[in-house]
Amino acid sequence: MSPSVSSPFVGALKTLKRPDLFIADAFVAGQWVSPTSTFPVYEPSTGQVLGSVANMTRDDFVTAIKSADKGYRAYSTSTTAHERSALLRKWYDLIMQNKEDIATILVLENGKTYAEAVGEVAYAASFVSWFSEEASRAYGDVIPSSMPNTTVMTMKQPVGVCGIITPWNFPAAMITRKIAPALAVGCSVVIKPPSETPYTAAALVKLAVEAGLPADVIQLLPTKDREAATEICTSPIVKKVSFTGSTKVGIHLSKLAMGTMKKVSMELGGNAPFIVFEDANIDLAVQGAMVCKFRCSGQTCVCANRIFVQKSVAKEFTAKLVAEVEKLKVGYGLDKETTQGPLVNRNGVEKVKQHIEDALAKGARLETGGGVPKDVDPSGFFILPSVLSGVTTDMMVASDETFGPLAPIFEFETEEEAISMANNTEFGLAGYFFSTNIGRCLRVASALECGLVGVNTGKISAAESPFGGVKQSGVGREGSMYGLAEYYVIKAVTIGNTNA
Ligand SMILES: *[C@@H]1O[C@H](CO)[C@@H](O)[C@H](O)[C@H]1NC(C)=O
Ligand SMILES: *[C@@H]1O[C@H](CO)[C@@H](O)[C@H](O)[C@H]1NC(C)=O
Ligand SMILES: *[C@@H]1O[C@H](CO)[C@@H](O)[C@H](O)[C@H]1NC(C)=O
Repeated sequence: MSPSVSSPFVGALKTLKRPDLFIADAFVAGQWVSPTSTFPVYEPSTGQVLGSVANMTRDDFVTAIKSADKGYRAYSTSTTAHERSALLRKWYDLIMQNKEDIATILVLENGKTYAEAVGEVAYAASFVSWFSEEASRAYGDVIPSSMPNTTVMTMKQPVGVCGIITPWNFPAAMITRKIAPALAVGCSVVIKPPSETPYTAAALVKLAVEAGLPADVIQLLPTKDREAATEICTSPIVKKVSFTGSTKVGIHLSKLAMGTMKKVSMELGGNAPFIVFEDANIDLAVQGAMVCKFRCSGQTCVCANRIFVQKSVAKEFTAKLVAEVEKLKVGYGLDKETTQGPLVNRNGVEKVKQHIEDALAKGARLETGGGVPKDVDPSGFFILPSVLSGVTTDMMVASDETFGPLAPIFEFETEEEAISMANNTEFGLAGYFFSTNIGRCLRVASALECGLVGVNTGKISAAESPFGGVKQSGVGREGSMYGLAEYYVIKAVTIGNTNA
């Protein structure tokens, strides 16, 4: 992309097979509504305004929540699990049929490459198909009773209206991972999409309604007004809040939600360790680091944030990683050669720069990257993928999530030291390590304080696998059979005097 090209995204929007999937409106009480107040959404590779999206108010949230309550009562009582399963399957089919359009919209607002966006849409759809299958499997139990002539059984019932607050790094997948299980068990949802990436959310909602979901069961309210969105956490009608975002905001929202004892799922910040032991297959480790550090330009909560390499293999690992990083082609996400898009906003770029400057000032070495790539729009939110060596625990990168394409390499001597450094953080989402020793693999997998561990792989997220953190990385699990449990409550039914 040449810097002189203005608004490359205008042409991209013309390529949509279904232009009606590019929606700036909110979806409230079964209607697409366009209020007069809007906020701008930026296209990250040029920094230009992509469009103006509905800026919903607290009153709008109140209306939506009331409508979702009505929707929930009808939907939960009038559909069978089998019907909800079929509905989700239809939604899955529509998402896959419109995969290219959704991916294009996703690139335009998020910046990631088209290949990554198509991958994300398929990943997002995989949650819909997974939970369409799980919808029919919300089995209860029959429990042998301690009392004579008595039967105890459990029913799994939908929790009710769910408030869903999603992040911009996976504009499609973070929505489906939350709402597919909610809809599977019979809940209704009120979604506050991220203000950076509301368009992907709107496309998904439109397709859900097309699939036959009763319109008031799903509500979508973009807003720039954080206070208005907290209605989701304070309204007594809402029974469950699921949030993905920073630990700071997650704690704030949890406190609000506890005011009315809502069920909560919080998928919060990470500071993932990535450990390379001397007995590792180094090429595999480099591949793993590329996947989990540079995917989505380093903007995922399971990205390796701290890379610990055993001293004897540090030189080899660093050289091989640098060689791979230098092959990355930074640019506009819709250009075919691009393998690394811009960051989502200017703040993201500033944070990476700050982490690099701090590390260099404290003695780290810049192995590659560091600046802004040459052949991109200077108004875009670009930064070169970077590798630092000689990193120590007093540097900002050790304790603060970079959320950008920066790989800081620490060295260690012993397994104990590596585990202790890895665990030395208040976060506990993902952790990765590479070793060919089976004993060590089991030992370290068990010792790492995180909710997700990747052993000899950098790829750990899938619909069938429970996703979530420990420590300040949050509570609850998404995906898998455990992800369904977040959206139902267990009722114990005791039937006595069965002999009477
Ligand atoms: C969005 O609406 C809120 C009121 O709900 C207002 O305070 C804020 O300034 C608006 N933002 C924009 C960008 O218009
Ligand atoms: C259940 O009730 C019947 C009839 O009253 C009685 O004979 C039986 O012992 C009871 N069962 C148990 C496990 O106490
Ligand atoms: C993780 O490391 C910390 C710091 O060394 C240590 O206190 C903790 O016991 C370790 N956790 C496990 C499960 O080994």
